[in-house]
Amino acid sequence: MYSNKEPDAGTPERTSQTLITLQIDGMPVTVPAGTSVMRAAFDAGVRVPKLCATDHLEAFGSCRLCLVEIEGRRGFPASCTTPVEAGMKVTTQSDKLARLRRNTMELYISDHPLDCLTCPANGNCELQDMAGVVGLREVRYGNEGENHLVGTKDTSNPYFSFDPTKCIVCSRCVRACEEVQGTFALTVEGRGFQSKIAPGPTDFLDSECVSCGACVQACPTATLMEKSIAELGQPDHAVVTTCAYCGVGCSFRAEMKGSQVVRMVPNKNGQANHGHSCVKGRFAWGYATHPDRIKHPMIRAKITDPWRVVSWDEAIGHAASEFRRIQEKHGRGSIGGITSSRCTNEETYLVQKLVRAAFGNNNVDTCARVCHSPTGYGLKTTLGESAGTQNFDSVDSSDVVMVIGANPTDAHPVFASRMKRRLRQGARLIVVDPRRIDLVRQPHIEAEFHLALRPGTNVAVLNAMAHVIVSEGLSKDDYVRQRCELPEFEKWRQFILQPRNSPEAMEEATGVPAAAIRGAARLYATGGNAAIYYGLGVTEHSQGSTTVMAIANLAMLTGNVGRPGVGVNPLRGQNNVQGSCDMGSFPHELPGYRHVSDPTVRELFSTTWGVPIDSEPGLRIPNMFDAAIDGSFKGLYVQGEDIAQSDPNTRHVTQALESLECLVVQDIFLNETAKFAHVLLPGSSFLEKDGTFTNAERRISRVRKVMPPLAGYADWQVTLALSKALGYPMHYGHPAEIMDEIAALTPTFTGVSYERLERLGSIQWPCNAKAPEGTPVMHVDAFVRGKGRFVVTEYIPTPERTSRKFPLILTTGRILSQYNVGAQTRRTRNGVWHDEDRLELHPHDAENRGIRDGDWVSVRSRAGETALRAKVTERMQPGIVYTTFHHPDSGANVVTTDNSDWATNCPEYKVTAVEVSPTSTPSDWQEQFQRFSDAQSALMPQA
Ligand code: SF4
Ligand code: SF4
Ligand code: SF4
Ligand code: FES
Repeated sequence: MYSNKEPDAGTPERTSQTLITLQIDGMPVTVPAGTSVMRAAFDAGVRVPKLCATDHLEAFGSCRLCLVEIEGRRGFPASCTTPVEAGMKVTTQSDKLARLRRNTMELYISDHPLDCLTCPANGNCELQDMAGVVGLREVRYGNEGENHLVGTKDTSNPYFSFDPTKCIVCSRCVRACEEVQGTFALTVEGRGFQSKIAPGPTDFLDSECVSCGACVQACPTATLMEKSIAELGQPDHAVVTTCAYCGVGCSFRAEMKGSQVVRMVPNKNGQANHGHSCVKGRFAWGYATHPDRIKHPMIRAKITDPWRVVSWDEAIGHAASEFRRIQEKHGRGSIGGITSSRCTNEETYLVQKLVRAAFGNNNVDTCARVCHSPTGYGLKTTLGESAGTQNFDSVDSSDVVMVIGANPTDAHPVFASRMKRRLRQGARLIVVDPRRIDLVRQPHIEAEFHLALRPGTNVAVLNAMAHVIVSEGLSKDDYVRQRCELPEFEKWRQFILQPRNSPEAMEEATGVPAAAIRGAARLYATGGNAAIYYGLGVTEHSQGSTTVMAIANLAMLTGNVGRPGVGVNPLRGQNNVQGSCDMGSFPHELPGYRHVSDPTVRELFSTTWGVPIDSEPGLRIPNMFDAAIDGSFKGLYVQGEDIAQSDPNTRHVTQALESLECLVVQDIFLNETAKFAHVLLPGSSFLEKDGTFTNAERRISRVRKVMPPLAGYADWQVTLALSKALGYPMHYGHPAEIMDEIAALTPTFTGVSYERLERLGSIQWPCNAKAPEGTPVMHVDAFVRGKGRFVVTEYIPTPERTSRKFPLILTTGRILSQYNVGAQTRRTRNGVWHDEDRLELHPHDAENRGIRDGDWVSVRSRAGETALRAKVTERMQPGIVYTTFHHPDSGANVVTTDNSDWATNCPEYKVTAVEVSPTSTPSDWQEQFQRFSDAQSALMPQA
């Protein structure tokens, strides 16, 4: 049988520089000080039997199976809890040890159900394995006496079950929950023989558990077990691939039975996740084979017509002839494409190449427009590269962590666990967020400063912090002198020192007490290695780019760029949003962030692609919408994005989509955008294709095909077919060849190849002759742009103001169990945690309006109106309300406005003036949406 157990050294690795040499069964072995005898034995090739020890958890020493003899010591110490000493002579096998181990194992087995043959873990159970290893052949004790063989199975969690009758109380689950996940949901209740594992007073579903699955992975028995294994049986092989949800980019082993996934297990060697995962990546993969998957190409003349199933040839031929017809009638620039941050780098590269080479224009954009485009602009301008500066491991060296406009425990959970571990070890925390996000107070973690600012005032807060640092002489002047442009710095210094930028002067705008800003600034500047992590609460504002530059200013000012533990770290939302930007998805940039107006760069691409490249930047997504409504933009190819749900001002977006003559949507489901389409091309999930994703730390990781594409073709093959039908054939037999072309054309990727990815596991770009194995930390000796550039960041309040009619500010965000527009997670069992978007508001705001928890409320803005159920919570501050946007009928984006970032057009999702009042009916928009959705569903072939 295939074994899904990766080698386990028993206790964690130690990194001490002091080396210790000892003997294990007569063999010399040298290990770092602090290493356990068990791990030293593992290094010497000796496997000591064990049950309660595993190498991702600190040793606990409860099972007594790992006993050894040590010369000169009395008794039989546990090898997992005994640290090595110089000259130690350890014996791991003797008759006496064998007898002791057998006796111990006999006691376990005598209190264990003897149902191995029908147990779902049969063949992959450590208890069973160890019984074999210690040579247990018979059990002398019956189980008539007191035992644990009666107990109720807890099946409340949708993905795993807990069968207490099989528990050996090794506490691996408890330690995994504490040490790896940092949630502290499990406890050992009772003592001695009475001790048992408890997830709180009731069951797993009602507990603090966030379903990360770390305990299930740690459990050496079938006590905690994935339901999928019970339903489908043990896997027969595994393929290493990368999670397709968030920008953490966790590596997984997809454990398979033929071409069916039976379990996703986080890869211990995964360099982004080190064997950990969250509920989405580990459990929420069922959408890939959901009955709603689109399996056949379809076309229709008008969006009110029923869909007609056609062959791939006919669908592709129709799309191509429509695009050519439109271009002949309305001009070369009348069509465009949108690349997907959920698709692979290779697929994204092909779509932008198709637009530039086959459409002949630069009308290509991507969803980063609505999330992290200000990151690209702001970091490029100040530091010289449009990406985060660190690897995730860097946080282990941070002394101060500042989280701005991000909610990592919900949106980037695996990185959040890593960060929480560092915070539990003593790093200090500053949170800048209007909401009291979970990180502000967690078991054993408390933010020293929570700057609960008013939405839209990030720049004011960051300027005030910089003002304190400069005026109190806390800046790292040597660093600035050596590494930054001094005239620009001087200009900025004069600006920042102006009294209007002081915390006191900004207090009224930000709502944050000046003393708190002063305290946070002092801590950030003087607390040691200080790292900034930020999210969409920074970028999705009218001053998004300004905020990113203010963050970079702060980091340069304090010397916090260019080594482990510091840096400026955007937490990217979608799995491949970094990659889609790298691959040239913007209308003004070719792959590698090189401007289309640069003749040398254009020459390089036109020579390789054999066509001229337009020197004029193309249309951004909002410009495409405006041009569609104006009548000059008529055709759009959208691969794997749901712009109708994710972009702001829904009415405007739908009006634009309705104005198109040919909308080609390539997606795995009939998403909201596809309801306006004329050609529907089935997409392929990440399980059905080869390629690469690039995560938030610039890490390129392989995506590997584990099952054939449900509709016959992977997304990259469909783009090739469309390009060929347009008269521009591209010739690639495998995504590896596409990566070779990317590497040949992109200086930061020249060293990247599938062969090197295979060898190194993953690579952080830049990867080239200077850095053949990639670059974990950027800007080490100098900034990519040469000298770092301080930019004056004047605080300009958003035009979106509260008024008597709209007195509250609405801001939006994500929740752990759902992902983005929810198309994938809504089609999994994750619905048990979040089956609707709710409006969170403070008890005072609720009381003033006669709203109780759970009531339906209308949310009205200047742009539109929707209705949601209320959640009354002190997590919000008075005057600010919040919702998520995972369900299309919630209409969060019906309410958001047209305001956007001055530099990049990134929409201002985070600030909308609204009024909230009780209601009993859906909004007009919701009723209309429901009618339209029902009508569109009725037009599907199966209907
Ligand atoms: S549930 Fe599993 S990991 Fe937890 S104590 Fe029981 S046997 Fe050990
Ligand atoms: S699933 Fe994760 S959060 Fe839940 S109990 Fe297990 S380790 Fe803790
Ligand atoms: S943290 Fe992100 S990448 Fe990792 S498993 Fe969860 S969703 Fe996937
Ligand atoms: S493995 Fe050492 S005591 Fe359990």
